[in-house]
Amino acid sequence: MQALRLAVIGLGWWGRVLVDQVRQSPRLEVVHVVDVDPAAEAFARERGLRFSARLENALADPGVEAVVLCTPHTQHAQQVVAVAAAGRHVFCEKPLALTRADARRALDAVERAGVTLAVGHEKRFEPPIVEVLRLLSAGELGTPLQVEANFSQDKFLALAADNWRLSGQEAPAGPMTATGIHLLDLSVAVFGEAESVLASVRQLGSPLTNGDTLAVMASFRRGGHALISAMLATPFAGRFAVYGSAGWAEVRDKAHPESPEGWTLTVSRRGASPQITDYPPAPAALLNLEAFAAAARRVAPYPVPREQMLANISALEAVFRSARSGSVEVVED
Ligand SMILES: NC(=O)c1ccc[n+]([C@@H]2O[C@H](COP(=O)([O-])OP(=O)(O)OC[C@H]3O[C@@H](n4cnc5c(N)ncnc54)[C@H](O)[C@@H]3O)[C@@H](O)[C@H]2O)c1
Repeated sequence: MQALRLAVIGLGWWGRVLVDQVRQSPRLEVVHVVDVDPAAEAFARERGLRFSARLENALADPGVEAVVLCTPHTQHAQQVVAVAAAGRHVFCEKPLALTRADARRALDAVERAGVTLAVGHEKRFEPPIVEVLRLLSAGELGTPLQVEANFSQDKFLALAADNWRLSGQEAPAGPMTATGIHLLDLSVAVFGEAESVLASVRQLGSPLTNGDTLAVMASFRRGGHALISAMLATPFAGRFAVYGSAGWAEVRDKAHPESPEGWTLTVSRRGASPQITDYPPAPAALLNLEAFAAAARRVAPYPVPREQMLANISALEAVFRSARSGSVEVVED
């Protein structure tokens, strides 16, 4: 497969991580990078990459086949629409959008343009998570009953108070768009569309006025609940567990996904002792980008269906509403 030629938009924390990961893959090549901040040019220069200040410049570059968006959340949907309209494949960092209506607009645009869309939910590409989803679809855990999951970190304590990632407009419901969204995405992978959510966000242990402690209970149309926990004022924790009528499986991360150190998977089947497997580190974000490239080249379909991308954002929007209202909110369909 010929390497897919990428433009990466947004050279902040995550954009730089992805540019450097892509350099390890023969399936992808970064050819153009963009940031509105001229200070980012030094990063591009060090790596010998073409730099410009506007997405439009990358879209006018005939060498660019696909665009990776690592920009603030409120820009995602409109940028996906612009990239698709320019006939380029698009990988959008999470969340795809902040409202169901915007997610719908983004999905319609990629549908119309016939381009590939991928979203930066790399947890789906972590080998033990792939195994849990395989166990579920093979029926080995029985009927899925409940998800319990936690994704917490304290990286944001180092951000300036006016950073966009701490703003209620760009990041409603405290930790939700930073980490909770990955767990909601996995819950949608297990159960499908959510029906209602109850969410609570508090500021308990930090100066983060947008909230540092989040609890979500999501109920799903075809049954099952997800109990999602995300905090920004405690050291890194990553745990995803699914309980089923025949057994359960739990994945624990050994380190932050930015520099993975591997995972422990425990699988417990009724009547048998729990099996514990250690997984070595794997570059899940890069595996996600390579799956995107394979889909753009029509080698293999992107493994996350678009209905699930939409279902995740519908549930996300209900989480925002519930965090504001303090009540159970119905998820739009
Ligand atoms: N998948 C993951 O695990 C993961 C991890 C971290 C961040 N993210 C996501 O990555 C995205 C970026 O987050 P971050 O923490 O890197 O933020 P950041 O603030 O560190 O970086 C954002 C960059 O985008 C630039 N920018 C803003 N508007 C722009 C525009 N219109 N055109 C070009 N550049 C623009 C800013 O100057 C900044 O350099 C967010 O969607 C975030 O949720 C994903």
